[in-house]
Amino acid sequence: MNPSGTLPAGDNLVLIGPMGAGKSSLGRQLAHLTARRWVDTDKMVVQRVGLPIADIFSRHGEDEFRRLESEALDSLRDHRRLVVATGGGIVTRPGNDEILRGLGCVIFLTATPDVLFERVSRNQSRPLLHTPDPARTLRDLLAVRQPLYEACAHFTVDTSDGTHEALARVALARAREFFAGHPAGKISA
Ligand code: S3P
Repeated sequence: MNPSGTLPAGDNLVLIGPMGAGKSSLGRQLAHLTARRWVDTDKMVVQRVGLPIADIFSRHGEDEFRRLESEALDSLRDHRRLVVATGGGIVTRPGNDEILRGLGCVIFLTATPDVLFERVSRNQSRPLLHTPDPARTLRDLLAVRQPLYEACAHFTVDTSDGTHEALARVALARAREFFAGHPAGKISA
C-alpha cells in the first residue's frame, strides 16, 4: 500500500485488480450504494472501437488495446462522482497509476488464485487467458502485477468470500475512512 504519492483531486471510487476480482459486479453495487455513476474502461474501449475485447487484441494487438485503455482512463480526469471499474492490466502501462490515483480513492480488489480462476472460467472473453494452461497464466500475471496493484492502491479488499453487497459495504467503509483524511471528497450516501 502506498499512502504517499499523488493525492486525489477527485472524489471517485476507482477499482483495480486482476481478472475475476469482482471489479464490475462490486462496482455496480458501490455505484448503487453511493448514488454514483458506474463506468468501466473495458466497456469504453469496446464502444469506441466497436469490437469485443478479444477481437481488438487479435486484430489490433495488445499494445493498441493498452493505448485505448489509457485514453479512456484519461478522458475521466475531470469527472466526479463516478465508480470506475478498470481492466486487470491497466496498472501495467506507465503513467496510468498517476491518473488512477488522481481520480480518487483507488481500491485494489483481489481474491485467491483458485477463486479468481473459478470466476474467469465462466466465460471465454479474456484473450490473455486463451493459453494451453489458463490457470497458470492467471497466476503468472498476478505474480507480476501484484506489486503494481499494491503500489497504486490506497487499500485492498479481499473478495474471496462474501456477497457483492457485503463486500461493497466493506469497501465503502474503507473509502469513507480514506476520504475523511483527504480534502477531495466525502461519501454522504
Ligand atoms: C485484461 C483484463 C480484462 C480486459 C482485457 C485484459 C488484463 O479486464 O481489460 O481482457 O490484462 O488483465 P477484466 O479485468 O475486467 O477481466
